[in-house]
Amino acid sequence: MTNTSDTNSVPIQPAAIPRRKLYTGATMPAVGLGTFGSDHVTPAQVAQAVLGAAAVGYRHFDCASVYSNEPEVGASLQTIQRNGIAREQLWITSKLWNDKHAENDVLASCRQSLADLRLDYLDLYLVHWPFPNFHPPGCDVTSRSADAKPYIHESYMKTWRKMEELVDLGLVRHIGTSNMTIPKLKLVLRDARIKPAVNEMELHPHFQQPELFQYVLENGIQPIGYCPLGSPGRPERDRTPEDTAPTEDPVIREIAQRHGVNPAAVCIKWAVQRGQTPIPFSVNHYRDNLECVTRDPLSAEEMQAIAKLDRNCRLIKGQVFLWKDGQTWEALWDVSGEITPP
Ligand SMILES: NC(=O)c1ccc[n+]([C@@H]2O[C@H](COP(=O)([O-])OP(=O)(O)OC[C@H]3O[C@@H](n4cnc5c(N)ncnc54)[C@H](OP(=O)(O)O)[C@@H]3O)[C@@H](O)[C@H]2O)c1
Repeated sequence: MTNTSDTNSVPIQPAAIPRRKLYTGATMPAVGLGTFGSDHVTPAQVAQAVLGAAAVGYRHFDCASVYSNEPEVGASLQTIQRNGIAREQLWITSKLWNDKHAENDVLASCRQSLADLRLDYLDLYLVHWPFPNFHPPGCDVTSRSADAKPYIHESYMKTWRKMEELVDLGLVRHIGTSNMTIPKLKLVLRDARIKPAVNEMELHPHFQQPELFQYVLENGIQPIGYCPLGSPGRPERDRTPEDTAPTEDPVIREIAQRHGVNPAAVCIKWAVQRGQTPIPFSVNHYRDNLECVTRDPLSAEEMQAIAKLDRNCRLIKGQVFLWKDGQTWEALWDVSGEITPP
């Protein structure tokens, strides 16, 4: 089913969408719209989806400067507000890209996103990756930046201090991390003046990250889950033969059939009932992806059956951020339990 019936459909009441409470007391809608069109959906199409999504009831939008569409998304956000949705009803996230970690770049980068998104403040600003490693958009996974660096905590904290200043300046209501691991987060929690309010991380039935998920919740950090459907539209360069597709899992498909919904809806219901905030990208199915959380929840048995589907199958491996020849992508994710040494 696609969104073609939007104009005839009754909007989903934003009040029917669960909310997540952050440690500041602020609340965030527990489903957001991803806006990364990758290389197959144009900025204009994403901007159109943002308009349509707001019309059907979305209030949470996950943006980033590196998605190269913030000016177009910003025009939609302005229209949405002119059409009567107050700024306070929206939850807008943006992210600091890897080439802007230097102390002098953080404020300018945030201001640029604010200008592009036509906003006075962001609800949430994330450090997109813990590595300051730049790569050209659309490059091959074997591409490496000559001056790529490992995670250096002192450097990350210099960036984080600037993120904290954005909160002090009122430009940003919350700050957060993305693509982090437990060993890195431990250090950030030890040293932060303003602790992260969320951690954005890959989460879907085949990649549940149970330890990190528990860790962030126990530390008062909300998990936002990206690629909640297993990113079926990601480019070839981001695929490996080991990758699996949660929406094709027979257990997910059987549950979908029982509920009379598509497998994507099962992934989203599971995510919301488990306690994370999924941010599915869609230009064609966004209505279904919101509506599915307002009715017919999964049973406890179904939730347990999905918990057993975890295959530790990371889809966004981040190979382009590696800093040494001969490394494999696992080095980015501290799989030994320690921060991978330089
Ligand atoms: N922090 C980070 O480092 C990071 C990394 C990756 C992604 N993200 C964020 O997470 C968002 C979501 O991730 P993603 O876009 O990679 O993957 P995703 O949300 O798992 O999958 C999106 C794909 O699923 C399709 N789809 C959506 N709903 C569907 C439905 N109900 N039935 C069938 N197909 C459906 C979409 O196609 P249609 O458009 O045709 O519906 C699109 O091709 C991104 O847009 C971005 O905002 C963040």
